[in-house]
Amino acid sequence: MLESYDVIVIGAGPGGYVCAIRCAQNGLRTGIVEREFLGGVCLNVGCIPSKAMISAAHFFHRLKHDASAMGIHVNGVSLEFSKLKEWKQSVCQRMSQGVSTLLKGNKVDVFWGDAQFTSDKELKVVSSSKETVVLKAKNFVIATGSRPVSIPGFEYDETHVLSSTGALNLDQLPDHLLIIGGGYIGLEIGGYLADLGSKITVLEAGSSFLTSVVDPDCAQVVVKKMQKKGVTLITEALAKSYRKTKNGKVILEYVHKNRTEQIEGDKILVTVGRKPNTDAPLLKNLNLTRTEQGFIKTDPQRRTSIGHIFAIGDIAGQPMLAHKASYEGILVADVLAGKNRVYDAKCVPSVVFTDPEIASVGLTETQAKSQGYPVLVGKFPFAANGRAVSMMHTEGFVKMVADQKNHVVLGVHIVGPEASNLISEAALAIEMGARLEDLALTIHPHPTLGETLMEAAEVTLGHGIHILQPEGTKRSTMSRPIPESPG
Ligand code: FAD
Ligand code: NAI
Repeated sequence: MLESYDVIVIGAGPGGYVCAIRCAQNGLRTGIVEREFLGGVCLNVGCIPSKAMISAAHFFHRLKHDASAMGIHVNGVSLEFSKLKEWKQSVCQRMSQGVSTLLKGNKVDVFWGDAQFTSDKELKVVSSSKETVVLKAKNFVIATGSRPVSIPGFEYDETHVLSSTGALNLDQLPDHLLIIGGGYIGLEIGGYLADLGSKITVLEAGSSFLTSVVDPDCAQVVVKKMQKKGVTLITEALAKSYRKTKNGKVILEYVHKNRTEQIEGDKILVTVGRKPNTDAPLLKNLNLTRTEQGFIKTDPQRRTSIGHIFAIGDIAGQPMLAHKASYEGILVADVLAGKNRVYDAKCVPSVVFTDPEIASVGLTETQAKSQGYPVLVGKFPFAANGRAVSMMHTEGFVKMVADQKNHVVLGVHIVGPEASNLISEAALAIEMGARLEDLALTIHPHPTLGETLMEAAEVTLGHGIHILQPEGTKRSTMSRPIPESPG
């Protein structure tokens, strides 16, 4: 069978399925090829299941530890892990089913199977029952994502050595999980398992946690909270090997500050990064240019070195985040429909769903300084926000970084309650070239966590109302031009 399309998208993750829907909306005859699950890593074994587990674990932990302070006495709170797993699966299934409905409703044809380019104009799709479909298209979009990096001596067997997928699908709560890698996944999964009652040890090769992705002040708040909950966090630790014991446990050997140490646990979770699926058979017959890091090289329209083939999402470069993939998906669909667009987003917000959450957008203080900006920096603590106090969530702060010359907001870094939901206002501010005054003079409803952004802008200008700033703090004049014709 041979089918011919305007565009074929390969991979139905948040890059691919979003691209396919927008292509169809733009009037293009569109097909999508997927070999495993609609929604990709994100909806099935990534963002969504991990956030479902995190929500449940926070709820459980709060019931056990915080409720009584509010006079709520809950007796016999217990965890039925198998039921939790079932619920988490139902969340993923619902999301994946939603993608199926959207693709169908937008008249995108779905082809199930493993795709392989036979030439730059033709794709062979082999289904699990070995049936083959050949697809021809004027344009192709590669959105085939990434997979976990493995380290020698710790090959994934999903029994003793787990990838994130294995860790999200555990049948039982481990007594003691050993995690190699203290980045996004290690701290998110380690964090929720600790909330559910596991003992957690994290071995991180670097000298601190999350430093490559977030402001170090923010990371410090999370590190302290994890330690308070009993998580063991070890930096400068290099995992060397492991062996299985007779009673089904593992003993992991690692080098810490030139000393060889051993630690026993139930299982090992390896989370040392992800790599693009560029070595897959899919691409073997295409000579696509790669970047030094191994991603498919693209231009600002996400065109690869073969002009009618595009690449988006994790396979096309950092940051490997779902919302970046979707943004690129829509961009490419618009380019294919003849719109004159390029990748021109000023910033990509990121969130680490730890307790508390860390959300960042734009430049950190260090990055702004190293780029030569004279900077103004201000911090507003959640402890001074009425809503945070009433929620018993007072850890953390909003940190604002602005250009001293014109007060344009360069970066916002939040560690605290609902940081993930608060960061979008900051992203909009940066996209719109907002100044500190724009945030400070926007009326924010009270009492809300969102007020912390307004207050952080005020603190950065030297005008904090709900915190005392040191005597001698320079106060900037705060004004916005009056519009020439109001209304
Ligand atoms: P993917 O989602 O990886 O989708 C690629 C799809 O292509 C897959 O469905 C795959 O089956 C299919 N495919 C691959 N090869 C072929 C082939 N040859 N033929 C047919 N189909 C093929 N990001 C966030 O922004 N927020 C989060 O909270 C977050 N949490 C995460 C938690 C975990 C545990 C993990 C692992 C990742 C998380 N991420 C998160 C990252 C996010 O999942 C990825 O950035 C995102 O899924 C990338 O989207 P994509 O469309 O590029 O690829
Ligand atoms: P990561 O890059 O976030 O962290 C990996 C960590 O492992 C780093 O701190 C690194 O120093 C450490 N490391 C590397 N080699 C090591 C070794 N041999 N021994 C010990 N430590 C070692 O990678 P992670 O956590 O695997 O996540 C992959 C990607 O998935 C992220 O970069 C992000 O793009 C995405 N993701 C996003 C999430 C979100 O948006 N909330 C959640 C989960 C994943």
